[in-house]
Amino acid sequence: MSKTLVIYYSRTGENYVNGRIQSLSKGNTEIVAEYIAEAVDADLFQIETVKPYAEDYTRCTEEAQEELRVNARPELKQMLSSIEGYDNIVVAGPCWWGTYPCAVFTQLEQLDFVGKHVFPVMTHEGSGMAGSARALKKYCPGAEVGTGLAVHGADAKNSRHAVETWAKDNLK
Ligand SMILES: Cc1cc2nc3c(=O)[nH]c(=O)nc-3n(C[C@H](O)[C@H](O)[C@H](O)COP(=O)(O)O)c2cc1C
Repeated sequence: MSKTLVIYYSRTGENYVNGRIQSLSKGNTEIVAEYIAEAVDADLFQIETVKPYAEDYTRCTEEAQEELRVNARPELKQMLSSIEGYDNIVVAGPCWWGTYPCAVFTQLEQLDFVGKHVFPVMTHEGSGMAGSARALKKYCPGAEVGTGLAVHGADAKNSRHAVETWAKDNLK
């Protein structure tokens, strides 16, 4: 049986949910990442930045925009040094300005993806998959990019069935 690793970034604090700012005690992507892990018995690796992004939603969008502008690579609390032993790597994150947070790229650039299957998973407030598959093609050289999954962030808690179906169909 193939083995799956879910690498994810998810932020707690204020976020935009169905047109309103709400404070989330658990991030949307974390909820989805855990559903994937439960569905196919995958391992989880959480990307965490040394310097946290602002709790305040608007400030955080500004920080993220600036990071994208300078193509930043924020420092991570811990880095995964190898994905040896895994066949499938799911890269899950929130859509930030149309792609993953730069912290995800900090981690992806350290790994050898040759021969792996990678799958984009994105939670969002309207942008769907946005640039997630394109980003994985760029940052996971040598990997095959499989069918991804977009989850509306506000529906993350209720997405278990859809996530499980996608995971069982694709992470074989
Ligand atoms: C900095 C920032 C930028 C965002 N940019 C977008 C965007 O471009 N498109 C979109 O649909 N949602 C955007 N969102 C909403 C998030 O993608 C959405 O709330 C996501 O589910 C948050 O996941 P998390 O709780 O795991 O961090 C943005 C949120 C933040 C904080």
